[in-house]
Amino acid sequence: MPTERRLYKISQVIHQRQLDIVIGLDHIHDQHNLSAVIRSADAAGFGRIIWTPDFKMTEKVNPEISRGAERWVDLNLYDDLKPELLKLKSQGYKIAATHMARKAVDFRTIDWTKPWVVVFGNEHRGVSDDIVEIADENIFLPMLGFVQSLNISVAAAVTLYEIQRQRQEAGMYDLNASAEQVKDLYNKWNLSEDHIQLNSLITRMTGPMPESDHQDGRENSKFFLKMKEKFLKNK
Ligand SMILES: C[S@@+](CC[C@H](N)C(=O)[O-])C[C@H]1O[C@@H](n2cnc3c(N)ncnc32)[C@H](O)[C@@H]1O
Repeated sequence: MPTERRLYKISQVIHQRQLDIVIGLDHIHDQHNLSAVIRSADAAGFGRIIWTPDFKMTEKVNPEISRGAERWVDLNLYDDLKPELLKLKSQGYKIAATHMARKAVDFRTIDWTKPWVVVFGNEHRGVSDDIVEIADENIFLPMLGFVQSLNISVAAAVTLYEIQRQRQEAGMYDLNASAEQVKDLYNKWNLSEDHIQLNSLITRMTGPMPESDHQDGRENSKFFLKMKEKFLKNK
């Protein structure tokens, strides 16, 4: 059975998930970069990644780097990202390509409270031309030093946290998710296997986070408190 604290945590995550932000990864080939983006996506509150791998990887995700975030993030693979992007466009999404072209704009000037697909490019070649062509905006993160670009996972993390900042300011993380979203994520995350009832999640839990116990919140477990006490005594 899940602890009250775990249930509370899942309730917050499920209701805060911003599913109208999609992360596009165009021919990303490095397993570490992919794993880091998945982890940042989950951390910032986003749960949809569409990805064209550069070649077939035997192990897609490195759990040392993703820290298990792949369970909470939908990763869909495509041979070609463009048709999927066009489909999303027809559903009302806009496409932002992270591409430092002449017409590119500072990523902070975009209104990220709207539905967006933000596309990051290959480690060497950047975003493909055919994707740049259909993008509504080209965006860049200002580079004030001597190097020309950031690592893709760093560029993604910085961008995702700007999206989070704007959406937080707009109160978008304070809303209750629709019952459809909750049901959808409940099924995707196999929460029934954790003995969690769907009904317990439909309405967002409110109030402070329940106290920690042995199973989660290591920092407050008896073991850690004892170690801390010992450490302070020996100082
Ligand atoms: C190492 S960069 C690729 C550099 C490549 N030579 C190019 O011209 O685009 C890999 C990816 O990280 C992202 N990226 C890195 N630095 C960026 C920046 N300053 N602004 C926006 N995106 C950036 C982009 O998605 C880029 O396609």
